[in-house]
Amino acid sequence: MLSASLLTGLVAINGLIAGGRAGILYHREAACTSPYQLQSDTLAIDDTSAQNLTLQANCGLKWKVETLADVTSWFIDCNDNLAFNQSTTVAQAVVVDSSTLTIQLDASQIAGFSTNGPGALKVLPPSGALATTGKASYEPASLAVGSYSIPKLTVQSNIMGSAYTHAKSTLKELFGINVTYDPNTMALLDLELPELEDAAIGYDDATVSLAGGDGYYTTEYTLNADRLTGSWLNGRTSYSLQEGDMVINTGDYLITDDDSGREWSCLGGDGQGNYIFNLEVAGITYNGLPVAAAQFRAHIYIYGYNYTSDAATKYGAGTPVDAVIEPLSDKVSNPPTSGAEPIFTWVGEGEKPNLADAFADDVYITWPQDTDASALEACDVEIVLSSLSGDRATLGPDLDYVINTSSNETQIAITLQNWAFQPVYTEMTVTVAGARLQGTRPAAAALSKTYDIASVFVYLTQQGGGGTTVDGTVTTYSFYGLANLTDVSQITVPSNYTLSTTVDGVTQYFAGTTNSTGVYVNSTAAATVFDGSGVEDLNVQLIGNTVYVTTRINATATKTVDGEPVTFTKAYNGGATLSPDAASPYLTGEPGYAINRTATWIFHEKWAWQESIKIGWGGIDVQPYTGKFEWEMDKGSSQQFTANDPSVTWSLLGNESNSTTVSSNGTLFYASDETSAAIALIATSTTDKSYAGQGCVNVVSSILA
Ligand SMILES: *[C@@H]1O[C@H](CO)[C@@H](O)[C@H](O)[C@H]1NC(C)=O
Ligand SMILES: *[C@@H]1O[C@H](CO)[C@@H](O)[C@H](O)[C@H]1NC(C)=O
Ligand SMILES: *[C@@H]1O[C@H](CO)[C@@H](O)[C@H](O)[C@H]1NC(C)=O
Ligand SMILES: *[C@@H]1O[C@H](CO)[C@@H](O)[C@H](O)[C@H]1NC(C)=O
Ligand SMILES: *[C@@H]1O[C@H](CO)[C@@H](O)[C@H](O)[C@H]1NC(C)=O
Ligand SMILES: *[C@@H]1O[C@H](CO)[C@@H](O)[C@H](O)[C@H]1NC(C)=O
Ligand SMILES: *[C@@H]1O[C@H](CO)[C@@H](O)[C@H](O)[C@H]1NC(C)=O
Ligand SMILES: *[C@@H]1O[C@H](CO)[C@@H](O)[C@H](O)[C@H]1NC(C)=O
Ligand SMILES: *[C@@H]1O[C@H](CO)[C@@H](O)[C@H](O)[C@H]1NC(C)=O
Ligand SMILES: *[C@@H]1O[C@H](CO)[C@@H](O)[C@H](O)[C@H]1NC(C)=O
Ligand SMILES: *[C@@H]1O[C@H](CO)[C@@H](O)[C@H](O)[C@H]1NC(C)=O
Ligand SMILES: *[C@@H]1O[C@H](CO)[C@@H](O)[C@H](O)[C@H]1NC(C)=O
Repeated sequence: MLSASLLTGLVAINGLIAGGRAGILYHREAACTSPYQLQSDTLAIDDTSAQNLTLQANCGLKWKVETLADVTSWFIDCNDNLAFNQSTTVAQAVVVDSSTLTIQLDASQIAGFSTNGPGALKVLPPSGALATTGKASYEPASLAVGSYSIPKLTVQSNIMGSAYTHAKSTLKELFGINVTYDPNTMALLDLELPELEDAAIGYDDATVSLAGGDGYYTTEYTLNADRLTGSWLNGRTSYSLQEGDMVINTGDYLITDDDSGREWSCLGGDGQGNYIFNLEVAGITYNGLPVAAAQFRAHIYIYGYNYTSDAATKYGAGTPVDAVIEPLSDKVSNPPTSGAEPIFTWVGEGEKPNLADAFADDVYITWPQDTDASALEACDVEIVLSSLSGDRATLGPDLDYVINTSSNETQIAITLQNWAFQPVYTEMTVTVAGARLQGTRPAAAALSKTYDIASVFVYLTQQGGGGTTVDGTVTTYSFYGLANLTDVSQITVPSNYTLSTTVDGVTQYFAGTTNSTGVYVNSTAAATVFDGSGVEDLNVQLIGNTVYVTTRINATATKTVDGEPVTFTKAYNGGATLSPDAASPYLTGEPGYAINRTATWIFHEKWAWQESIKIGWGGIDVQPYTGKFEWEMDKGSSQQFTANDPSVTWSLLGNESNSTTVSSNGTLFYASDETSAAIALIATSTTDKSYAGQGCVNVVSSILA
């Protein structure tokens, strides 16, 4: 039932309507206060029942609607959006005479509401729905006809998962460790409605799914915790993730060993091991009516790898981009005349501003003749980046950009080099505060310009298998930011093989008269070339955004030569990923991504924990620490470790001996009977439990031990 307070509110709204409040109703003739009016009770949609609504035409207007016509699209919310997610099946004209229209609205047909939470329902008969007679005319006018009282779903999430990589670039099960979730973290779902009754909440068919976001594709993971299982109390329930609930999806690809396949990769995320996933809860009902879906975030932190030493050689240590401050010269041939708007001109490499490259992007503003910009300062300029997922970042004046100004032109040199993979910023808005402009100040709207930008290079991450020489090991290459990557041939070199064997100490190749019978030849050029992409061979497949390739060592095939069966060894070619240059005819970047077609994929790789990424790094610093392989100890010895945060608790991961211990002050004893060659010593801040509050060293037993 609708609450008394809501009903009162509705009456008040109707009172305003009846009063013919300007702006709500359209009327052309002074005598006609409203083209039509509500004749029945107001609708109160709070369950799945059907209700009738009668509208009376005024001013000699006549309804021109077919009986049984679908009028679902007439219903709008208070923001003038369609009230329902669908535009048919909910409302039907059941009685039409010339002046009276009865609409039956069947709430059980509502698939969803366009607004999350309760709202006012209005009707807006389109032009043509009321025909004119005499001088009266109808132009579409909306009328408040009721309300829907559906709870608003909000979700607050602090879901935090983490996994330590043991100094590897991908998270492997070296220590039998998967991503685990802090038991204290969960998503709290809240349904808000006055006088909400828990018994009316339907969640049997509710689902939780991975929604789109930056830095990952939904096809890459399988979310096993896809239901709401907790009970509801006062409109609240919780949802949490447990180990194994969100796992890498490898499709149906055959994975044979532990080195194979895909794993959480430290390459990606925000470049510091932070992965932010958007989850969506949908399908909750209230009194049988659908509650709008809501999204929330889960944060997974993959830590323990410091790539600085390797990355520095490829990318430097994040050397600041140099701003080229040019003597200001007119960037437009005809500067704006007095009173005209300033002209914004972008000058940079490529097709649009690219904040990922090593070059400054310049925005020049050419001012109208009656405006004097000579007093502008960097802090008068605001540069805001935004992503499709709703992330925003504001650049720092004199840090991420500098300005150079004269009376008639301002150069804004954006020097930021963005290293992180996510968020993927797609837009940049440059706004100048007018206070320090002298002379005529252009209108505020003229002082802002939004650009489509790129902030991330299309990139690949290699996971699984790389470098192993075990037959059957699967290596994977995941691509991010490539639009229309649909076929493996777009991105890999075709694979094939020839057959060889040694006869009397001489290498001979197979040339087939059929594919099973043939002769020996003495060069690869003369040998028959077979397709090498099949399941028995390199099994090259594109699954989602990931290329899978199986390593084959000493694969053989038996053929008939001179009437005798001969076992040949297969020698493979191809299977490697194509460079962006070679792939370029097919592939373009998604919004926010840039492709450098002259670079290799290595240029497009950026690695986790590279020194260049400083923003946001707030991990506990554990010392002593020696870089990639961190710290070596002899078995049977002790070592005192310290952290830059005195509040930490110390813990161990991966020790097999109970005699290996760490004391509360960080003294690690590496037991003589320890059988694990490497363990992790972890310092966790007790004051800051956020993702940044953990640090570790990987301790390996010394080779001398
Ligand atoms: C609405 O009006 C139609 C036609 O008069 C009638 O058949 C129907 O039962 C009414 N529905 C409700 C819910 O009153
Ligand atoms: C880690 O996850 C894998 C795959 O989901 C599972 O087979 C394995 O048992 C898990 N390991 C642990 C230690 O739970
Ligand atoms: C802009 O100012 C510069 C000097 O600061 C001058 O050389 C140039 O002619 C001016 N351009 C216009 C269009 O007024
Ligand atoms: C690839 O995608 C881009 C962006 O969506 C589009 O402009 C382009 O036409 C597509 N190319 C092909 C070959 O489909
Ligand atoms: C390879 O075979 C060709 C013809 O079958 C022959 O002429 C040539 O001498 C052979 N070369 C060697 C190095 O055996
Ligand atoms: C032999 O195999 C090749 C490559 O796999 C194929 O193109 C060819 O059609 C086959 N020939 C016969 C006779 O089956
Ligand atoms: C198997 O392949 C490896 C690497 O290609 C090679 O060194 C080795 O000799 C091969 N073994 C046999 C039995 O052919
Ligand atoms: C075999 O594969 C290699 C590498 O992809 C390629 O260069 C060569 O042209 C292929 N050979 C044939 C006959 O397709
Ligand atoms: C593209 O890559 C080439 C080769 O690595 C490099 O010299 C060039 O500066 C890059 N261009 C951009 C815009 O990053
Ligand atoms: C990574 O290692 C370097 C030394 O090689 C050290 O200076 C730096 O602080 C380390 N970074 C992190 C985040 O541990
Ligand atoms: C270590 O301690 C645990 C828990 O007390 C026990 O279950 C385990 O057997 C012990 N391991 C060894 C090697 O003593
Ligand atoms: C830390 O604790 C260990 C064992 O409890 C003790 O031997 C050592 O002296 C302590 N170190 C400091 C610096 O307090």
